[in-house]
Amino acid sequence: MNICINDAAAHYTPEEGDPLLLARGDLVKIDLGAHVDGFIADTAITVEISTYNWRELMKASEEALNIALEMLSPGVGVASIGTAVEMAITSRGFRPIANLTGHAMQRGNLHAGIAVPNVSGGEAAVLPSGTAVAIEPFATNGRGRVDGNRKGNIYQVTRERDLKDQAGNDLLKDIINRFGRLPFAARWCAPFSDKYEALIRRLWRHGNLHSYPVLSEIAGGMVSQNEHSALILEDTSIVYTR
Ligand code: CO
Repeated sequence: MNICINDAAAHYTPEEGDPLLLARGDLVKIDLGAHVDGFIADTAITVEISTYNWRELMKASEEALNIALEMLSPGVGVASIGTAVEMAITSRGFRPIANLTGHAMQRGNLHAGIAVPNVSGGEAAVLPSGTAVAIEPFATNGRGRVDGNRKGNIYQVTRERDLKDQAGNDLLKDIINRFGRLPFAARWCAPFSDKYEALIRRLWRHGNLHSYPVLSEIAGGMVSQNEHSALILEDTSIVYTR
């Protein structure tokens, strides 16, 4: 689960005992992933806490997602989806976030090759039948780009090479057994070791783990996001997260 507030767009998840509270007026993206035997569903909504300041912005990403989902069919070009998403968002006076994309998914692999852009001018890839794909437009009143400026609490195994110390190796094995190569929250490792935070840092320094930084809008713009997962079939597509 990613919980991103205001100008944060992606990859924040709470740490153990996180003191962060939601406040009136916050624009909150809830982006969650779940899997059954490695088959992944990825979906997101945006909510505003007790105010009505960002309804137009929220509508921009929601409408862009609906238009993109209607376009999904075997062989659809991802560039045409990017163009439609950009038009839907700019026609409401906002900008899409150019360096965040939707993504194909494979069993046990959340980001599997094909990216689905949120802007025009993308590459000529198509989505063949049999593809599971997450579409996730982001809209902002900022510049339309994000940057990783804050350390996050989400990690992923990138290399299984052994460390020299036993505690690090034990944690790495627990992580691989439990999460495979899917992203995981650092706090989920609390049951494995009392020293999980220090050990995770060691695994990260050793190149065993990738760390996802929190991605925030570069001009501090507010960000809204909507996401659904769909499966491209022989002659149609189904959205399986609603
Ligand atoms: Co996604």
